[in-house]
Amino acid sequence: MWHADDCQSNLLFIFLAQSGWCMNRDIIMNHLDEENTLQLKGKVALVTGGSGGIGRAIVRKLARAGADIVVHYRNNKAHADDLVKALTKEGNAAYAIRADFSTEKGCSELFAEANELSGGVSLLVNNAAVRTVAPYMEIDSDSLNEMMAANLNAPFHLIQIFAGQLPEGRHGAVVNIGSIEGNLPAKSHIHYSISKSGLEMLSRAVALELGSQNIRINTVSPGLINREGLELDWPDGVKRWKETVPLSRLGEGNDVANAVLFLLSDQAAWITGQNLVVDGGMSVCPAW
Ligand SMILES: NC(=O)c1ccc[n+]([C@@H]2O[C@H](COP(=O)([O-])OP(=O)(O)OC[C@H]3O[C@@H](n4cnc5c(N)ncnc54)[C@H](OP(=O)(O)O)[C@@H]3O)[C@@H](O)[C@H]2O)c1
Repeated sequence: MWHADDCQSNLLFIFLAQSGWCMNRDIIMNHLDEENTLQLKGKVALVTGGSGGIGRAIVRKLARAGADIVVHYRNNKAHADDLVKALTKEGNAAYAIRADFSTEKGCSELFAEANELSGGVSLLVNNAAVRTVAPYMEIDSDSLNEMMAANLNAPFHLIQIFAGQLPEGRHGAVVNIGSIEGNLPAKSHIHYSISKSGLEMLSRAVALELGSQNIRINTVSPGLINREGLELDWPDGVKRWKETVPLSRLGEGNDVANAVLFLLSDQAAWITGQNLVVDGGMSVCPAW
């Protein structure tokens, strides 16, 4: 009997298999491949904001790891439907569901439909967010409430519903998509920054409470992620970013998706309440 963390026995079997002493080389190598590959077979993942740029990369990554997928969208039905069509063609079960997170009702209706269609969600990625830009003095209570409802209140409610519907004894995992702006404020983004800062604390606080129910909750905090037209829309910002960031490039949706996959997989089975920063090293840059 092998265990994922039994490094010594894995090394022994690699030696036996490679040296030809063992008859069942293929069985052993397949076993080792499975252990060392991030897998989500038999799981159903609900990805909020799956119609958006990073959401689409996350959806594709989780589907390739074997998960069935519920793609949430608000207005962009076309993107969500295209994604579902592509995943279904590749052999995944996939569903698109619309929901608006300005109210708690939007969250509960999404979950009820997701469970009915998929048979039961066991992985949740809170990725949807409002990202409007406005100077502090111009942020009125409507835009503050809109931001907080989607970026903080919705993840709060969705994790609660998720934990409530998970059958007893079943393991669950949640990743909340934060931002480096949760720790480093940016001008004209104060409502966004405080929503992301709150989201990171939500992950930590809920991880503390739900650990005994076998539910893990982590945050992935991206830096600047590339999208179509970004360099045209914000040439000086992108230039400054590339000149400063240690790894000398913009992030890609896939960089975020890789981190999400790891944290949802069993290989992160003993990781909860953490914040994985995916920013090419920007947050370790000194300001002087
Ligand atoms: N892009 C970056 O550089 C960057 C950097 C750091 C962190 N992040 C974080 O990464 C995540 C994804 O960002 P992104 O760049 O992919 O954003 P995006 O392309 O703008 O997508 C946002 C998604 O959220 C959904 N959404 C927005 N408001 C909603 C609401 N009130 N109710 C329900 N759904 C709502 C949108 O749905 P519809 O389009 O269907 O309406 C869309 O699917 C966000 O949490 C963001 O804060 C992004």
